[in-house]
Amino acid sequence: MEEKKHIYPIFDRMMTRQDKEKLLGQHSVMIWFTGLSGSGKSTIAIALERELHKRGLLCRILDGDNIRSGINNNLGFSESDRIENIRRIAEVSKLFLDSGIITIAAFISPNNDIRKMAADIIGHEDFLEIFVSTPLEECERRDVKGLYARARRGEIPNFTGISAPFEIPERPALSLDTSKMSLEESVNRLLDLILPKVMI
Ligand code: ADX
Repeated sequence: MEEKKHIYPIFDRMMTRQDKEKLLGQHSVMIWFTGLSGSGKSTIAIALERELHKRGLLCRILDGDNIRSGINNNLGFSESDRIENIRRIAEVSKLFLDSGIITIAAFISPNNDIRKMAADIIGHEDFLEIFVSTPLEECERRDVKGLYARARRGEIPNFTGISAPFEIPERPALSLDTSKMSLEESVNRLLDLILPKVMI
């Protein structure tokens, strides 16, 4: 591409991720939640952040509704917009990871290709895929935002689980079903997985 010819990245002269991890006294990692709307991704992410913070670990949450009202406010829910949504989120996540920060993303990210794209951008070695596997019936029963009822009435096109697909992750690092597990139990399972990776 012509316009890229005049771009000169300066990454080689900046302080490194290792410098920043040392400064913070932690290793960074990407915790990538995937699951249906209303499955509990954000709730678990917030509770996890609180527990990590308590242990002196610096985190940053990136969450669907927040990101979609800011940096991604020009994107909808077509397949191509969802890809662009996740691409930007992965690029932003990488900036946080490279700053030594434990980065927690809570997005539906509905298929294997989209999650692989995120892992390719972020780096597979840093990418922990967590499937919040709460069944559709339970998400719909809770219907916290009232969106499932609207989607069933045909008011929201391309609604994940109703009129758009959700593909089950193939090899998640962890699966958490919030209809079977308490919030505390989910967070404890996550801490067991994450703490050994982030403690220096
Ligand atoms: S993703 O598919 O592109 O990863 P993302 O996590 O950013 O989705 O946004 C999902 C949130 O947007 C849902 O929790 C819900 O509140 C809202 N939403 C609005 N329209 C849709 C839709 N058609 N499908 C899924 N979620 C939607």
